[in-house]
Amino acid sequence: MGKKGIAGFFAEKFPFFRASGVIVLVAFALSILFMRWVINDRMTGFLPDEPSPRSYFALYPMNFVDEDGTSVLRSRVGETVAGVLVRDGSAVELLISKIESMAKGDTSSLSISQGLSDLLKALPEEARQKILRESALLANEFLKNSGTETALTGVTSEAVWKEIEKLSLPMEENNIIFQILDEVLQPLTRVDEELTRSLRDDLAESLKPLERSVSPGDLLVEKGQMVTPQVARILKLQGYSQVTFPWKQILFALFALPFWPLWIRLQSGFRPSSPDRTPWIYISFVVGLSWVVEYFSSLFNVQGMGSLFLAGCAYLTLPSLLAFQVVLGGSILGAIVVTGLSALHVVLVALMGLISAIAGFGLLSDVNSRSHFWRQLFQLGLLQGAVSLLIRWAFELGIYPQLLMYLVIGTAAWSTVVIAVLPLLENSFDVLSPLRLMEMSHPSNPLLKKLQIEAPGTYHHALMLGTLAESVADKLGMNSNLLKAGAYFHDIGKLKRPQFFVENQMGNANIHDELKPSLSALIIIAHIREGLELAEEYHLPQKIREFIKEHHGTTCLSYFYRKAKSMGLEIPRDQFCYPGPRPRSRETGLLMLVDSVEAAVRAEMRASTSIPDLQKTIEGVVETKMSEGQLDDVDFTLKDLALIKQTLLTAFQSMYHTRKVKEIQEKDKEQLLQKLKKQEEESIEGSLASR
Ligand SMILES: [Fe+2]
Ligand SMILES: [Fe+2]
Repeated sequence: MGKKGIAGFFAEKFPFFRASGVIVLVAFALSILFMRWVINDRMTGFLPDEPSPRSYFALYPMNFVDEDGTSVLRSRVGETVAGVLVRDGSAVELLISKIESMAKGDTSSLSISQGLSDLLKALPEEARQKILRESALLANEFLKNSGTETALTGVTSEAVWKEIEKLSLPMEENNIIFQILDEVLQPLTRVDEELTRSLRDDLAESLKPLERSVSPGDLLVEKGQMVTPQVARILKLQGYSQVTFPWKQILFALFALPFWPLWIRLQSGFRPSSPDRTPWIYISFVVGLSWVVEYFSSLFNVQGMGSLFLAGCAYLTLPSLLAFQVVLGGSILGAIVVTGLSALHVVLVALMGLISAIAGFGLLSDVNSRSHFWRQLFQLGLLQGAVSLLIRWAFELGIYPQLLMYLVIGTAAWSTVVIAVLPLLENSFDVLSPLRLMEMSHPSNPLLKKLQIEAPGTYHHALMLGTLAESVADKLGMNSNLLKAGAYFHDIGKLKRPQFFVENQMGNANIHDELKPSLSALIIIAHIREGLELAEEYHLPQKIREFIKEHHGTTCLSYFYRKAKSMGLEIPRDQFCYPGPRPRSRETGLLMLVDSVEAAVRAEMRASTSIPDLQKTIEGVVETKMSEGQLDDVDFTLKDLALIKQTLLTAFQSMYHTRKVKEIQEKDKEQLLQKLKKQEEESIEGSLASR
């Protein structure tokens, strides 16, 4: 750990400190947020209390309390309440005193008009007294009846006349009485402002708030119409953006995204003993790209294309469990980054991510060709599309004919883009998909072709190792495509001097018999360096180069060392050892074991014609590698090692069984031929004798 520096130390101790990957992720998020701000929000977004820049239509059905409408309605209801009339106490007292004065024949306190007062004065005393008395009686009558509602609002002229006519007095007197009463009988009520206001308020309050609902396609606000705070709120709920800089999302990108790697590590379980080989930068880059894809697809209302893209990339280049975490987490985060904080969109996109992660696990983890890959991706896309339609139907989000077209076209287009982009990503980030590995392992690969022609023995050894390693890898749940490709290329360095390696000597004399042991060792050890040079020349991926570099670890060619010693040469032992490093992954460790076992079995086969004691040989090789410490950097468990030994034993046994059968068959054939020959000779002899 010491060599890795502080960053390496933190990266190992604290999984969220994957600085470079997190920086890539945050950079993508910020670019998308900024892009959205520039392209969408700023150009087409609305501002509260400003005229709307365009007509907005509802995308989703929703119910809401129409506050604007409610307040208009409440003010109207208030207006229906006219002034509240109440009985005016002082007016009643005044009337009573006036009636009393009239009854006494006193007109001074009646405050009647000058004309009427003059008319009364001109009347004879007796007539005047009578008129005033009658008037007082009538007024008193009206006052008594004023307890009812009608009387409170004043007495009508007709009612007064009706009462006067009942007195059956001369017309002139009737006229005067009417005039007196008309002036004396003032309305006994007034409008109570305070009571009116509180009554209006009560009525408005008692009115229920207006609930309204909109359906997809309903006009929310017309272009040029004022965007009230309520309309602004509805537009936001519908997913339209207000012209506000996306501060919240930026904070999310800066403070929440860095914790994502921690989540993945928690999900996939800590293994502190093994170094973290997760390609964080690659993962972050692909996740970021998928957000861009999601952004552009969502412009056409086709959600989930980002997670389709991500599933395609992740399931083909990462271990399935890690890929699951990446697709699920990446899509959910993407939903927040890409769609803003509109809840319905976030849910929809996140659900698409969940489908991609689950269905992708089944559809994409066993792909065998590019066309197969495309078909599987297309199926995944259609599945997502079907689910999104189902969700749209369930939540009444609106399904229109173009949407189906966009879904199919989008799925086909993005599946194709993944196929096209994947090799570029593989080269740039040096990650390997099974497709690339399968293509590399094909016999048409130029380097393998060269090996087949120039070093057929090594080629055969590589093929055999490929088969053996693949079968063990399958049992251990390791990447068998990688092991096969690694086996095919591990001894590629032998191409430089094929005849110096025993498998290419084809029964000819051993060239090393005439060489100094130190030179022999030098040439043999050089196949590592020369292999790496060829790997560079033919642009082999880093992971394949690791097989070349590590397959002999730091083992020593003890045969040549002993030979040198027996010849009396004093040469340091390390000149007979491979430079290493020792295997650092399970894959290269496994190849070392298979390679060594195969060499040992081959050597023993040559030494004796009987079937060698395979189990003993295999045990011995594994034991030696362990005791030499060659597997110290590989986390094989005892169970793994037992499984490796068992699988190799079975494989070699079946190989030698067929060989033995062949030998027996050969032997039988020979015996048969001899028998036939003998019979023939006898028959010739017999025929000669018969003559
Ligand atoms: Fe080798
Ligand atoms: Fe080898």
